[in-house]
Amino acid sequence: MPKTEPTEDQTSSDIRADFRKLMGLFATGVCVVAVPAGPQSVSAMTINSFVSVSLDPMLVCWSLQNDASQFDTYADADMFSVSILAERHAGLARRYAARGDTMLRPQDFIQSANGLPVIGDALGHLECRRWSLFPAGDHTMIFGEVFAMHPPAGNPPSDEPLGFFNGAFCSIGT
Ligand SMILES: Cc1cc2nc3c(=O)[nH]c(=O)nc-3n(C[C@H](O)[C@H](O)[C@H](O)COP(=O)(O)O)c2cc1C
Repeated sequence: MPKTEPTEDQTSSDIRADFRKLMGLFATGVCVVAVPAGPQSVSAMTINSFVSVSLDPMLVCWSLQNDASQFDTYADADMFSVSILAERHAGLARRYAARGDTMLRPQDFIQSANGLPVIGDALGHLECRRWSLFPAGDHTMIFGEVFAMHPPAGNPPSDEPLGFFNGAFCSIGT
């Protein structure tokens, strides 16, 4: 049987799949980004692109898929919270990785003193003001300046962290 040459499109989509697999070997923690969406409602999304960027000013960043159904909600939000998940939050992480907000459970969130929704029993959370947005390919990087944090510095971690490695949730604690 004659061998068919892959088309240019097939080749580049194979390379992207390889890139995705390779990046999956970079183990990360898992967070939930949340923004208020009306008086009683919350928009929330599981992310693992969270990164600490700068100490002075205190900046963090995460990247948002341009085709997220709630893209405008996150990109337009003046403030957002990032809750760092513990290992016991794998179910919650799956819930907020589902498309749309149909799986939203208001009882997962408490309101911070600043009025932002946060996961009450997360390992920790940060509250951020949008600092800038930066378009980056099929994602948009959202930079935030941290204005509040919990728990206060010096508290030992309350639990083991949730990890994400090779396409699956995992343990990354000691
Ligand atoms: C472990 C994990 C990490 C994720 N990280 C990101 C991320 O950093 N940025 C992002 O836009 N989506 C990320 N996603 C996908 C979103 O959680 C998912 O697409 C989103 O909740 C669907 O929302 P939508 O209905 O607004 O499209 C991640 C999913 C999982 C399971």
